[in-house]
Amino acid sequence: MLITKIYKPAEIKQAAGELNKGELIAFPTETVYGLGADATNELAVKRVYLAKGRPSDNPLIVTVSSTEMMEQFATDISEDAKKLIKNFWPGPLTLVFNIKPGTLSKTVTGGLKTAAFRMPQNEVTRRLIELAQVPIVGPSANSSGKPSPTTAEHVYHDLEGKIAGIVDDGPTQVGVESTIIDMSTDKPLILRPGAVTVEEIEAVLQKQLNTDQHKVGADETPKAPGMKYKHYAPDAQVLIVEEGKWDAALTWAKKQPVSIGIMVSNMQGKTIPENCELFDLGDDVKQASHNLFAGLRYFDDKKDIKWILATGFAEEGLGIAYMNRLKKSAGDQFFVD
Ligand code: TXA
Ligand code: MG
Repeated sequence: MLITKIYKPAEIKQAAGELNKGELIAFPTETVYGLGADATNELAVKRVYLAKGRPSDNPLIVTVSSTEMMEQFATDISEDAKKLIKNFWPGPLTLVFNIKPGTLSKTVTGGLKTAAFRMPQNEVTRRLIELAQVPIVGPSANSSGKPSPTTAEHVYHDLEGKIAGIVDDGPTQVGVESTIIDMSTDKPLILRPGAVTVEEIEAVLQKQLNTDQHKVGADETPKAPGMKYKHYAPDAQVLIVEEGKWDAALTWAKKQPVSIGIMVSNMQGKTIPENCELFDLGDDVKQASHNLFAGLRYFDDKKDIKWILATGFAEEGLGIAYMNRLKKSAGDQFFVD
């Protein structure tokens, strides 16, 4: 077993040295913490799949500190893509491009002819990549299937003893992962909703995006391979409570012979029954997105909690990304009275 070291931002030179030795280092971004390894070191990348327990056909994001670094690997970068880079990088937008043959291993791309590239806002992480002088892979730094980590403590909880270190730069800001757009086809396709909204992207591109994200069967090859796997799921069953249904949901909860977790936004006027425990999601969809994964993890560690009731938001703006994650954690189950 490895001893997992916690690095302060001032200690990233050491952390970069570990990356260059093929070790795994978790890093902060504005969305969630990522699990870093030298993207050009096949053995190091293989260890990322092992540490996370991630299926090997689910490719990894390549995290870069500059567009020049990306251009060593990516090709066919359209005018539209250049506009997106100019407007949203560094930031929570991941872009899928064709790759120059032979530049990235199958272990990174899962055998696809494309790869997903991201330049995060977090300056400590961009400096870490500059110091390492190689791009780093960056899947979320959680055990596969669990909610993504929004603090260094979450990473430690899942990966202690499996990775060399974690660069701790405090809680992340956004709380849900980046928006992913496939830019390798003529019509840009949204593969995963995130902090950069469809409206913001369409405003920059001056055209409508393809948002057709159909559900993928187990035997199909999905566009974003990660979409087919169980995600963000705590041990308890999550039920989504829509606006106007909280009174009925709390009445139902009170009658249950088990403990229930309540993740609610804007508590005003609601009385929490005795068998229920509250996790406050904050005042609005922005705060709720920031707190969602922490709430799911909070209740996951309490083995007596059998159900989690969680607030649903309207599917517009950031609400699309929030509901995408919440629906996955709930297996699409809503509270119905
Ligand atoms: O905000 C984020 O994007 C975070 C931070 C750490 O950067 N990372 C993250 O990585 O969410 P991960 O691995 O948890 O999710 C990446 C998704 C997966 O669903 C994967 O299947 C998809 O990106 N993906 C990776 N390469 C792809 C490609 N070439 N084409 C389509 N989808 C791809
Ligand atoms: Mg993930």
